Amino acid sequence: MAETADHIADLVGDVKLAIITDQTVERLHGPKLSDALSRAGLAHTVRAVAPGEPSKSVACASELWDWLADSGIGRYDVILAHGGGVINDLGGWVASAFIRQLRYVNLPTTVLAQVDAAMGGKVAVNHATAKNLIGAFYQPYGVVANVAQLATLANRDLRAGVAEAVKKAIIASPAYWRFLNEHAEDILALDLDVLEQLVRYAAAIKTELVERDPYERDLRRPLNYGHTIGHPLETVAGYGVVNHGEAVAFGMVVETRIAANRGLLEEPVLDMLIELLRRLGLPVDQDTLPVRIDPYRLLEATAPVELIRGGSRRFPLPRKLGVIEIVDDVVDDEIYVALRECGCKGGGPGDASMARNAAAR
Ligand SMILES: NC(=O)c1ccc[n+]([C@@H]2O[C@H](COP(=O)([O-])OP(=O)(O)OC[C@H]3O[C@@H](n4cnc5c(N)ncnc54)[C@H](O)[C@@H]3O)[C@@H](O)[C@H]2O)c1
Repeated sequence: MAETADHIADLVGDVKLAIITDQTVERLHGPKLSDALSRAGLAHTVRAVAPGEPSKSVACASELWDWLADSGIGRYDVILAHGGGVINDLGGWVASAFIRQLRYVNLPTTVLAQVDAAMGGKVAVNHATAKNLIGAFYQPYGVVANVAQLATLANRDLRAGVAEAVKKAIIASPAYWRFLNEHAEDILALDLDVLEQLVRYAAAIKTELVERDPYERDLRRPLNYGHTIGHPLETVAGYGVVNHGEAVAFGMVVETRIAANRGLLEEPVLDMLIELLRRLGLPVDQDTLPVRIDPYRLLEATAPVELIRGGSRRFPLPRKLGVIEIVDDVVDDEIYVALRECGCKGGGPGDASMARNAAAR
């Protein structure tokens, strides 16, 4: 942890840190971090919120602003978001609005956050209508990842995090795909050398996409692969019931089925994807999801995605490894058919558009 604290001190200089974390991360890693930061000469104060997706809320952000206002944190101080994707998204959003933007540094502690959420500057909290509805684009001042912190992750969270790495391999890198296939079991066994490569690879892919398109106008859109279905799935299941990586895994399968049914696939991406996700213990159909999904409700919940993405659900669909096509004419029945192929039951083709029209009214 000493090296981590030194990196943070080099980044931020002589400031006070306001550490936003969750209670699990604080219990497991807080004392060591605090000790190392003190040795590195950094004054700090800590606030730990409840762990999990429900903390990505306006209410929680508001409590954190109250705490910051009472903590003597000033314009040149820095927020350190120490935790998983929830804490990085929440901490970044809190920083984006406090004293008209405070600098923040992410210290991600889950695989998901180290390979994805900590980078890119999409910060947000959830709303009952949709995931990440209240948010901003606000880049972190820096990201410091220490893979040793991943050793305490629960097995379910470890597996879920790898889903975002699989996503990156499919959208951008056949070489990363080969790496994941070669090392799936080493990753689950928490081999630190392999985890370090996993994170470095992902960081390179994500920063390249984000640098070319920081505000998601175009080139960065492939990063939404798996999320057009995954985010609504999280919303209808109730935030925290299906965790984000699991929802993305299932979303990638549904979206790849849509691509297959359209005849877009130039390689057997669907079979390859399902095989790897199964090895990683991630959901690929209704039987492997932790909740039953009503296809109608899931379809209804895709409506806000159209608003967020400027009038279309805009599906990034794979053609082959590393090649994505952005498609904006996917109709409800195609989604419905793909959901049925995944074993999600209810109604029949044709009923889906009726359900969505009813929702629009
Ligand atoms: N901003 C982005 O670009 C982006 C990208 C992907 C995902 N996300 C967001 O990330 C969130 C999901 O992130 P997540 O899966 O990391 O969830 P999370 O932050 O809720 O962490 C999962 C669980 O792991 C625990 N935990 C964290 N670090 C730990 C450690 N080292 N040891 C033991 N337990 C630990 C947490 O307390 C929590 O219970 C979602 O809200 C998603 O929308 C954002």
